Amino acid sequence: MKTSRTVIETKALRKIYGMNGISVLAVDGMDITISEGEFVSIMGPSGSGKSTLMNILGCLDRPTDGEYYLDGEAVSSKTREDLAKIRNQRIGFIFQSYNLLPRFSAVENVMLPMMYNRHNKIEIKNRHDLAMEALTSVGLEDRASHLPKELSGGQQQRVAIARALVNKPILIMADEPTGNLDTKSTQEIMELMLNLHQQGRTIVMITHEPEIASLTERIITIRDGKVESDELQMLQEGVLQ
Ligand SMILES: Nc1ncnc2c1ncn2[C@@H]1O[C@H](COP(=O)(O)OP(=O)(O)O)[C@@H](O)[C@H]1O
Ligand SMILES: [Mg+2]
Repeated sequence: MKTSRTVIETKALRKIYGMNGISVLAVDGMDITISEGEFVSIMGPSGSGKSTLMNILGCLDRPTDGEYYLDGEAVSSKTREDLAKIRNQRIGFIFQSYNLLPRFSAVENVMLPMMYNRHNKIEIKNRHDLAMEALTSVGLEDRASHLPKELSGGQQQRVAIARALVNKPILIMADEPTGNLDTKSTQEIMELMLNLHQQGRTIVMITHEPEIASLTERIITIRDGKVESDELQMLQEGVLQ
């Protein structure tokens, strides 16, 4: 039997905002385990705690209490500096608004995660080659020198996906990756995400669109800071109809 590696494990995870005045229990005791190679959607109404959970899983924020292990490493008690390093080296982010730097070309945007990494010994030439490789994997090698404003929304999101992949992260986190896109670009981006999944990547995606979530093999629904349901589903052939 294949025993797969656990990429995410949380135990009694809690996040309380505003400790000194009115406090909000945004994450209220979540136990979540995600294995390598899973493609998981996180759904839930506005205010249910999705962004708070993503921020913790993405090492952008720390829980108030409870435990979080990323690829077996306890990260809940790390310093902010350590978290920044883990984030840069181990997690690829995809955002609704792409978050590309407007004055940098597509390939330069993809090179950024390698630049931020002070301990990165990869030479500039190799960084460029690796960024081109990532751009090629999203089908944008012929747009490498274009600025973000010269690209469509779907193309910008593909650049962002290349950027998320370039450091070969253990985990890809996507927050409403198709939220700003038209139907056709949404299909393209979801096809790309499904390809990444087929290649064995571990992906956690926030979405409030049931049709998007239905393309993934597991849907975790949260409500009032708690896991309401966690279901595996049968996948239909093909992408969005
Ligand atoms: N920085 C913050 N300070 C105080 N309360 C917050 C903060 N961020 C989120 N909240 C509150 O925490 C709860 C969960 O918010 P959030 O995680 O953003 O939910 P979602 O992403 O599902 O809409 C909400 O009640 C929200 O108002
Ligand atoms: Mg949110």
